[in-house]
Amino acid sequence: MARRKKQRRPATEPAANPEANAATPARSRRGLYALVVAVILIAIAVDVWWILRPGKAPDVAEVSAPTVVTARYVGSEACAGCHAQAYAAWNDSHHALAMQHATAQTVLGDFDDATFRYAGTTTTFFIRDGKHFVRTDGADGKLADFEVQYTFGVDPLQQYLIAFPDGRLQALSASWDSRPEGQGGQRWFHLYPDEKVDYRDELHWTRRSQNWNFMCADCHSTEVRKQYDAGADTFNTTWADLTVGCEACHGPASAHLEWTEAQPANTHKGLAAVLDERASATWANDAATNKPARSHPREHDTEIEVCAQCHARRSQIAEGYRAGLPFLDFYRPALLSPGLYHADGQQRDEVYIWGSFLQSRMYHA
Ligand code: HEC
Ligand code: HEC
Ligand code: HEC
Ligand code: HEC
Repeated sequence: MARRKKQRRPATEPAANPEANAATPARSRRGLYALVVAVILIAIAVDVWWILRPGKAPDVAEVSAPTVVTARYVGSEACAGCHAQAYAAWNDSHHALAMQHATAQTVLGDFDDATFRYAGTTTTFFIRDGKHFVRTDGADGKLADFEVQYTFGVDPLQQYLIAFPDGRLQALSASWDSRPEGQGGQRWFHLYPDEKVDYRDELHWTRRSQNWNFMCADCHSTEVRKQYDAGADTFNTTWADLTVGCEACHGPASAHLEWTEAQPANTHKGLAAVLDERASATWANDAATNKPARSHPREHDTEIEVCAQCHARRSQIAEGYRAGLPFLDFYRPALLSPGLYHADGQQRDEVYIWGSFLQSRMYHA
């Protein structure tokens, strides 16, 4: 704690001079101890003063970094009252639908005793006591009934998550093609249509490669903590927002809510991440090249890093990324190598960028 505070003060004290001690050889050991104790006491006093000093409006550079670390998540609902327009736009976006509780409103698939055959197994989707169920092959290959807990995504397909007692959520591979009928949609299909994935296969829905806790959650919810217990082999995964909420992009916003009361200037409005770069730029057609050109070069990478936490081929190094912190401290992007991108820069196939064996597979057919 004391160490962190120290870094926020300019380094005004001159470096200790070794000759100063050499010049006073007669000083007793007792005196030296007294001096050391005095120095420590002064250091503590300065720290106490720093902590208790009268409040002043901190300048921008001072407030931004600690705000990212100390602010708490408050949830998207807390923003609706003051930002009705932004809230309505978000509420309609796929970000708000990335993960939802399974209800009659959110489930798009046909659960009216619909059946679907794949690799010798008939899967049935049905409703019992108002809840959505699927009868399919479990981890032992035998048919069993599983309750659908969550929906995942909306368009062009929707997946379904099943909860297990050990805290795992598993993503079913039998998925709903949500495109209109005219485009070949409104049907069940399997994500690996050309293979025969059964319970012995690495890719079976009950296996690790379809485990939501560590394969999917970090990108479809906000402030995810996997909380895996290696001893018990269980998960106790938590999130601040079930879906991709406001704070996934704007950072934890408790300090912003505090800011709204007095609205002090030069405090980034208490926001952990300032996404102001794009707003100042315009794109006009460059007559010489006939291509759009940006009005001025990009000044910072905050927004790119914020989106890249989820919209990049990356693997996770550490948990706890918050919008406003350096992306590279938490994620390792894949290098530009053949097969990963189309010629125009678009990412090929959807992969969960964890094991290289998965990178070679088309996840979504
Ligand atoms: C009590 C009202 C209030 C609440 C609640 C509130 N805000 Fe704000 N917010 C403001 C005001 C006032 C401003 C400054 C005026 C503006 O830019 O619209 C602002 C500005 C912003 C900005 C623009 C900052 C900039 O200048 O670039 C963002 C982003 C933002 N709020 C996000 C959020 C999010 C996310 C939440 C929910 C966690 C939230 N706000 C909750 C009042 C509120
Ligand atoms: C926490 C993870 C996360 C972050 C951060 C994030 N996204 Fe997304 N984004 C997703 C997920 C997941 C989906 C798909 C959700 C679905 O299909 O239900 C998505 C979908 C989209 C889509 C297509 C769907 C639509 O609503 O039109 C766009 C465009 C997009 N994101 C842009 C962005 C941009 C730009 C940023 C940064 C400013 C960003 N995203 C930040 C996870 C994220
Ligand atoms: C690295 C971040 C990331 C991870 C990890 C991730 N997703 Fe997504 N997911 C996205 C983004 C981004 C989109 C939106 C893609 C788009 O619209 O082009 C998306 C979209 C989806 C969709 C909607 C359909 C679609 O293709 O747009 C489904 C379903 C989905 N993901 C399922 C999963 C499952 C299941 C897992 C885990 C096995 C998973 N995702 C892991 C980022 C991720
Ligand atoms: C996927 C990332 C993402 C999510 C989720 C998101 N925002 Fe934003 N928001 C942005 C970006 C990027 C900008 C800056 C846009 C620009 O400058 O063109 C922005 C701008 C804003 C602004 C200031 C300018 C404006 O358009 O009003 C407010 C206020 C705001 N967001 C509030 C919210 C609230 C409230 C939510 C949730 C209900 C939310 N945002 C969800 C990325 C996001």
